[in-house]
Amino acid sequence: MLSSLSQRTEQMQPSLIRAIADRALGQKDVIPLMFGEGCWPTSDIAVHALQDALASNDHFYHPNSGKPSLRRAIADYQSALYNNRTASENITVTASGMQALALTAQALISQGDRIIYIDPVWPNLPEVFKISGAETQPISLYPHQGRWQLDLDQLLSMLDSQIKAVLINSPNNPTGWVMSEEEQQALLAHCRHHGIWIITDEVYARLCRGRQVAPSFQHIASPDDRIISINSFSKAWSMTGWRLGWISAPAELETVLASLTEFNIACPAGSIQAAGEAMLKQGEDEVHLLQHRIDTGFQIIKDRLGHHQRISFIEPDGAFYVLFGIDGFRDSLELAFRILEAGKVGLAPGAAFGPAAEGHLRLCYAQEPDKLKEACDRLDAVLNRL
Ligand SMILES: Cc1ncc(COP(=O)(O)O)c(C=O)c1O
Repeated sequence: MLSSLSQRTEQMQPSLIRAIADRALGQKDVIPLMFGEGCWPTSDIAVHALQDALASNDHFYHPNSGKPSLRRAIADYQSALYNNRTASENITVTASGMQALALTAQALISQGDRIIYIDPVWPNLPEVFKISGAETQPISLYPHQGRWQLDLDQLLSMLDSQIKAVLINSPNNPTGWVMSEEEQQALLAHCRHHGIWIITDEVYARLCRGRQVAPSFQHIASPDDRIISINSFSKAWSMTGWRLGWISAPAELETVLASLTEFNIACPAGSIQAAGEAMLKQGEDEVHLLQHRIDTGFQIIKDRLGHHQRISFIEPDGAFYVLFGIDGFRDSLELAFRILEAGKVGLAPGAAFGPAAEGHLRLCYAQEPDKLKEACDRLDAVLNRL
């Protein structure tokens, strides 16, 4: 039966993060640091907005591109954040960042289109473009003087008019690498020249250490540049389970994205959109609270893992992960399973994020301090026995 499924499902790679998570979630007493989410529930601002929406019979379909009031709120938010003129026509509300990526791939990719992406990276990003028929080719970040570095000249040399799009995820999951504004300027000029799309995944834009927002193409681009930005309520507003995100794109794409939404899900749920709108309008303090919490989490991890003789890592500039290596180990999936079984700590295997991250484990430090300390104690105990 499976042989009669589509070719694209044959080539699909199951997520190795899920492989660990599926084992971890069934167990008691595991400290789950393998997912990209914090341990704190979403603010009451969102909960009350959802309850009010349901109580006032927001039970019906909405426009494909999203509720006009939410599109307006997102456009205003982005205009203020990036000092640009984002309009409602630029915004498509989606049922998650993941769905924003899937719609973007459906909108842009024809069979065999070539895409360049930077790895290590969250596997879903290249995978969803592959599922749409793209041929994807990575260029790897490399460690240099204690930082993750992009070889910009090499990237530009790979980008000619045969390439359809380049995928950028900054701040990056899993390395925490942040693309500088100078790098963005150079890439934008080059892509303009060759007519290449820039797809920029900015779901961690507000989680950039020491800054309110990461450098963004949205700050330097003009409205008709071939730039599609992916965003989500999941991370900065702690709403992973609500499934709400958005696409920011040239206004010319508005009707295409609306039609694709029609044929995928019709529209995201109205009550969830109401919650997102309330968070955008009243939830800025919640973003600051999360920024503060993850700073605290990072300091704990830095102190503990940074002093461990067998552990090494590059400090992240953004997002909420540390990607660390353990002396003497290469097979990250096997190691992640061993740490889960013996130490009850869930970590994502580096192999999930491409060959450049093999030999590493990814830890999400968006957790309460005592849980992080306990996870470090457990990790110490496992490593002493290995
Ligand atoms: C880089 C990146 N993009 C997009 C997403 C998707 O987020 P969501 O689908 O929860 O909105 C994630 C989630 O981990 C991510 O790490």
